Amino acid sequence: MMKDPYGRSITYLRISVTDRCNLRCRYCMPATGVHLVNHADILTYDQIVDIASQAVSMGIDKIRLTGGEPLVRRDVVNLVAKLAAMEGIRDLSMTTNAILLEEHARKLADAGLMRVNVSLDTTDPQKYAYITRGGDIQQAFRGIQAAKQAGLLPIKLNCVIQASSKEPDAQKVRQFAKENHLEVRYIKVMDYAAGIFSIVQGGQGGDCARCNRLRLSATGIVRPCLFSDTGFSIKKMGIGPALSRAVENKPEKGGPCKENWIRATGG
Ligand code: 5AD
Ligand code: SF4
Repeated sequence: MMKDPYGRSITYLRISVTDRCNLRCRYCMPATGVHLVNHADILTYDQIVDIASQAVSMGIDKIRLTGGEPLVRRDVVNLVAKLAAMEGIRDLSMTTNAILLEEHARKLADAGLMRVNVSLDTTDPQKYAYITRGGDIQQAFRGIQAAKQAGLLPIKLNCVIQASSKEPDAQKVRQFAKENHLEVRYIKVMDYAAGIFSIVQGGQGGDCARCNRLRLSATGIVRPCLFSDTGFSIKKMGIGPALSRAVENKPEKGGPCKENWIRATGG
């Protein structure tokens, strides 16, 4: 079991499998696009499995796959199958925008994925297209239904809000969730440069005192905090040392940082 300097048990690893995405959400990606990582620098699935295996042996028992958008990486279902076969993982999930879920939900469930969190900030097709810069909400809806049918439950909707869950879009998402037996978590829009973030309503994120997370970037950097520029390279240090150093250097709480790690590590 890994304990950080503030006594928090670190049991949850979020793994970004790609920095690419098939949407361009306004709060996440600049319109001009972002500098993408070279394919050669992205961890292979075998490397990710090795890292996960070592992490599990050190006390990690919960793994979430993130991006970018994890479903845009080729054969991600193979990675899911390898992780699902690993002993010691009691919760294996994915955060996705659901655009590709209609196609992949069944295969993911069969491979051993337990559940998905889906990003959905509005139920209005025009507004969705605006926020995501071109996304088709019907495709996301079909993805959500496919996830339900495949049993990827409970499905949690990640709904980004500007100020409050009383906003009209947030309320419509709540209604949609009720009708479809989904859960909603409200995430107030974060600003990494200013270090502005708050506790996720209905979830566990953003609560520094209770944070149990480490994040692995698609290039193999282990990050102890979403709101810190500190990171440890698996490729330079080796798996065990990078994981340990990240735990030892987990800050008490997040603050302003230079880079948008929300995007690089899928929030
Ligand atoms: N503020 C709040 N949430 C964000 N996400 C991405 N960028 C931000 C931000 N700046 C969320 C998305 C998605 C998850 C991957 O991270 O809504 O649900
Ligand atoms: Fe893609 Fe998620 Fe960023 Fe939207 S928030 S652009 S879906 S990675």
